[in-house]
Amino acid sequence: MGKTQPVKNKPFSQIIGTGVGIPQKVLTNFDLEKMVDTSDEWIKSRTGIETRYIAEEGQFTSDLGTTAALNALHDAHVSAKDVDVIIFATITPDVGFPATAVFVQKNIGAVNAAAFDIQAACTGFLYGLELADSLIAAKKAKTVLLIGGETISRITDYSDRNTCVLFGDGAGAVVLRAAEDDHGILGVYTRSDGRLNNLLKLDGLGTKYPPTPEHYDQKMHFLRMEGREVFKHAVTCMGDAAEAIMERASLSTEEVDLLIPHQANIRIIEATAKRVKVPPEKVFINVNKYGNTSAASIPIAIDEARRQGRLKTGSVAVLVAFGGGFTWGAAAIRF
Ligand code: UT7
Repeated sequence: MGKTQPVKNKPFSQIIGTGVGIPQKVLTNFDLEKMVDTSDEWIKSRTGIETRYIAEEGQFTSDLGTTAALNALHDAHVSAKDVDVIIFATITPDVGFPATAVFVQKNIGAVNAAAFDIQAACTGFLYGLELADSLIAAKKAKTVLLIGGETISRITDYSDRNTCVLFGDGAGAVVLRAAEDDHGILGVYTRSDGRLNNLLKLDGLGTKYPPTPEHYDQKMHFLRMEGREVFKHAVTCMGDAAEAIMERASLSTEEVDLLIPHQANIRIIEATAKRVKVPPEKVFINVNKYGNTSAASIPIAIDEARRQGRLKTGSVAVLVAFGGGFTWGAAAIRF
């Protein structure tokens, strides 16, 4: 949480496995040039995005989450039957209810788990990390499977150039267990400001604006964003959060091996890195390949960074995110 979270010296939990589930279909900037009035040059220079992956027809958030979960469990050498809790962070659940997490539970055979979703937009994975770490700290769970997954393409208006060039689909998962030494979650910081709920939102799909033909015509089932406003807040809040977690975990800039920002826009990533004085070679970037995958962006990045050898045993990573709500947060992890 915000200011109330105590400083922690010894970690309670650690990540013991990671995995991803990425759709095969690629949507390039050149494809988008044929759909809306945009250009590869504009998208690349304003966002850093070149491609994004899009779920196939009939492929849902739980499917991507299931693949990510199975890969993470395999990586962790953990049986699905040993999972106590499944937390799924998403703003694109398969259905209104039940939770996407229970579909994953069924698919992987995690018969002994409690399963539920959380919704904190692009910060969802960090909110989930705070919960998972707390459950393990309180000895309420031994093994937690935390997934961030989205099929944002399903809530994207592909006639709105302000948003359709930005988002992509995917899922990432991590398995957490009690830390045995000084490797693990050094701290998590989460904040929100509901006064700014109107700047990034999806009005439909809830009870306030039922799916009437009128609401459908008004495209209420699509995501809307005041891009410029969101950009300004994202830069400030991600910088604040990264600074706060580094202070709380007593980390100097030199001690940070990798900064893993939410992958929304290359300019926001660069501004965040500049604010905490982390040099470019220590900043993880894959927004060019995936676009903004909301709650999936950080777990996908963690998995890729590990596979690229950029997160080794002992590496210290700072994760930082910002999203609708507004919500924002950061975490520090010694791998
Ligand atoms: O993950 C949650 C957080 N989300 C974010 O962090 C996203 C935050 N926002 C952004 O990343 C940026 O604001 C955008 C990439 C969405 C937009 O970039 P911008 O530099 O803020 O552009 P803008 O919205 O100020 O628009 C500049 C111009 C406008 O034209 P006029 O009014 O100056 O004539 C837009 O209509 O660019 C136009 N524009 C486009 N042009 C070509 C907007 N979208 C496009 C497009 N292609 N796709």
